[in-house]
Amino acid sequence: MSGILDGKRILITGVLMESSIAFHTAKVAQEQGAEIILTAFPRPTLTERIAKKLPRPAKVIELDVTNPEHLDRLAGLVKDELGSLDGVVHSIGFAPQDALGGNFLNTPFESVATAMHVSAFSLKSLAMACKPLMGEGGSIVGLTFDAQFAWPQYDWMGPAKAALEATSRYLARDLGKEGLRCNLVSAGPIGSMAAKSIPGFGELAEVWNTRSPLAWDMSDPEPAGRAIVALLSDFFPKTTGEIIHVDGGVHMMGA
Ligand SMILES: NC(=O)c1ccc[n+]([C@@H]2O[C@H](COP(=O)([O-])OP(=O)(O)OC[C@H]3O[C@@H](n4cnc5c(N)ncnc54)[C@H](O)[C@@H]3O)[C@@H](O)[C@H]2O)c1
Repeated sequence: MSGILDGKRILITGVLMESSIAFHTAKVAQEQGAEIILTAFPRPTLTERIAKKLPRPAKVIELDVTNPEHLDRLAGLVKDELGSLDGVVHSIGFAPQDALGGNFLNTPFESVATAMHVSAFSLKSLAMACKPLMGEGGSIVGLTFDAQFAWPQYDWMGPAKAALEATSRYLARDLGKEGLRCNLVSAGPIGSMAAKSIPGFGELAEVWNTRSPLAWDMSDPEPAGRAIVALLSDFFPKTTGEIIHVDGGVHMMGA
């Protein structure tokens, strides 16, 4: 059986639980023929346990995307395992508790800086760490939550996602000459660990029950994973700096 990622080698960050968007991305990627390698934070053992539920085994490498030593050694470790890379998935987001859940006006800069470092700047860090292994046709894909709007409870993750979206466009600009693409999937709410750490996330997700043209299932990360796999494939060869919405259509509803 042939798949749209046959022969492709893909690095996937962000597999923490079975509810992780990255887990479903990894599953669909393997089903579509990719050879994958996972990165893990905070502990490889957690990711290794979840990786056992994938269709095929996948090697796990520790990566704190804010740790320069981890970033420096990444390409060497991946090269030993896979040789080269055709795609990279950035499925990473974090903000401290005082940057979320209604504390927007009082959040200290240190917490904002952490959110920006882990959630936005890291796309550039990861892209540059993997670039030596990538060539013409390579694809980088990240995940955003529509940063055009001010959402309830999302607070400083909103500006962090706005920064991520801009970072993706600048990466697309600067990496295009090497034939590399950089795109984002803008996903609707999914009940993952990251989502559960946002106090009042249910209130935010409620919007989808009333406004989504397509029925939205918060417990199903696979639609986002499938879109990521499509962007990793050769079926979007001239698309870069783009944001594909996988949100049931909420982004285009006026009321
Ligand atoms: N869940 C949603 O509703 C939703 C909606 C749109 C976009 N997203 C985005 O999707 C991505 C994945 O989130 P998820 O919902 O699958 O949740 P998740 O909790 O499963 O994944 C978040 C991941 O970020 C990783 N991470 C945090 N700090 C890190 C660091 N310093 N270094 C490396 N990795 C680190 C965690 O290990 C975890 O695997 C995030 O960018 C998130 O903002 C989520």
